[in-house]
Amino acid sequence: MRSYLNDCQKIEQVMGEVYRKLAGVKTYSEKLRLIFERMARDEDDHARQLGMAKGVPEDVFFEGGRFDPEKLDELLRRAHQLLRMAEDPPRSESLMLETAKDMEMEFIKIHLQNAVQFRDAAMAELFRDMAREDEKHFETLDSYYETRKKTSRYPLH
Ligand SMILES: [Fe+2]
Ligand SMILES: [Fe+2]
Repeated sequence: MRSYLNDCQKIEQVMGEVYRKLAGVKTYSEKLRLIFERMARDEDDHARQLGMAKGVPEDVFFEGGRFDPEKLDELLRRAHQLLRMAEDPPRSESLMLETAKDMEMEFIKIHLQNAVQFRDAAMAELFRDMAREDEKHFETLDSYYETRKKTSRYPLH
């Protein structure tokens, strides 16, 4: 189980890196870069909290068995893929926004799925909190994207 939490933490770390990279892309608007910067801090925070959770003895909080390590592997792979995209950012702001939105939606789902597997209330709450924050991430990206599409004088690249 510890390795499951370890992978959860790795994903949050990679997403923190992704958003920090995107916050540094000069061609993105100031507003979007600030959004990415805040999100990077949130993901770092998620990673930190999962890091602390790893120290709790296993039998305290798990009913066991209903976690989905394969889904986690897939998400970790996709997070790394996104990191490579962020390292060499395509001109396309819309592609990055769409990909990030998809990822956040996946995180909301898996955090909520994980939350109901815990016997320990604090652990369940930790995962529900992360789901809530990722919901905010999703909404922030979505509303920025929609506004951009409406107000941009030029087609969004
Ligand atoms: Fe997160
Ligand atoms: Fe997030």
